[in-house]
Amino acid sequence: MIDETRFRDAMLGFAPVPLAVLARGEGARVWDVDGNEYLDFLAGIAVNALGHAHPAFVDAVSTQAATLAHVSNYFATEPQLELAERLKRLTGGDGVFFGNSGTEAMEAAVKVARRTGRPRILALEKSFHGRTMGALSITGKPALRAPFEPLLSGVEFLPTSIEALEAAIGDDVAALVLEPIKGEAGVLDLPAGFLRRARELTAQHGALLVVDEIQTGAGRTGDWFAFQHPGELPEGTTPDLVALAKGIGGGFPIGALVAFGAAKQLLQPGDHGTTFGGNPLATATANAVLAEIEHAGLVDNAREMGERLRAGLTALGHPAITDLSGRGLLVGIGLAGPWAKDLAAAALDVGLIVNAAADDRIRLAPPLTIDDSHVDRFLDLFSSALERLPA
Ligand SMILES: Cc1ncc(COP(=O)(O)O)c(C=O)c1O
Repeated sequence: MIDETRFRDAMLGFAPVPLAVLARGEGARVWDVDGNEYLDFLAGIAVNALGHAHPAFVDAVSTQAATLAHVSNYFATEPQLELAERLKRLTGGDGVFFGNSGTEAMEAAVKVARRTGRPRILALEKSFHGRTMGALSITGKPALRAPFEPLLSGVEFLPTSIEALEAAIGDDVAALVLEPIKGEAGVLDLPAGFLRRARELTAQHGALLVVDEIQTGAGRTGDWFAFQHPGELPEGTTPDLVALAKGIGGGFPIGALVAFGAAKQLLQPGDHGTTFGGNPLATATANAVLAEIEHAGLVDNAREMGERLRAGLTALGHPAITDLSGRGLLVGIGLAGPWAKDLAAAALDVGLIVNAAADDRIRLAPPLTIDDSHVDRFLDLFSSALERLPA
């Protein structure tokens, strides 16, 4: 049970009252302070890629903490260089900047975009890119932006359609920023062919294509990164910038911005930096997490378990479920009414953690380590939660 008074007393007023107080985790299971067990199909919102307390994660954190935890950016470290090289290899990019969170990766992307000297940035309605002022400026949720205006000038929000993009793009556009799947909006897919057309149009007009893979990256969608799914981008092309965070650290805070081609040179010496970004503790942990994802075949597992999950949800044939979205182990479940909060609460009651990402959409983002038995258990628990919805 959460002691609401204690929470309110300790935290700033804007923090929503949490659902429970969690004490420990193992794999895809967590326990609260009262000993109740939950199947965790949210994984810290697509963060705990290896689940909880994975030996590779625990070993990396403890070994590196006992070796060298932090140095200033007057020095490089081996884990930092290794992670930059690993991310270059996995993304196909040419250079990496490290921060500590997703929003920081997007702040860096905004600064790169500004350095083109062009005034306009295009972003999409219903997008989410973070809460700091630059990332908020390109977040397509008016209710989040409104209290903090004026934000960055020159940002325009487009409906997510190829027609709207064709109408808006021009030679004065610095960047188009997008998520391959809008996670925070409820796991909304882009229209077919959107990313491909976005690459063509941005290339034609000399604008940067910035792909926010903070939620979709690190194997979650069944490829290392969502932009790499066959046919997503025109053959032989890449984004100009890819933002990463969440899953690459498996629970250790880290963010990264990967630049491709000429975008690598846009920020000038002294333009950007951060004290903690790229520290050996974070980068050694991310190296261990990504190595485990690679060696344990978790990218393929995400694809296979995603298929099993979708097939199972479809087979439930429940009238409250209208559609399934997302890819791999980022799954959106559309509901026939605004029941997501009630359903997530009912799920918690039966020992299952899912997320009400929108009034009528449930988001699932379980650890990439789940197997058939976790999916089957999820389907059992989720069916019980569905039965608790008012008829
Ligand atoms: C797509 C996307 N971009 C950016 C962010 C911001 O990341 P962070 O919360 O680490 O600042 C998030 C977080 O949910 C996200 O899902």
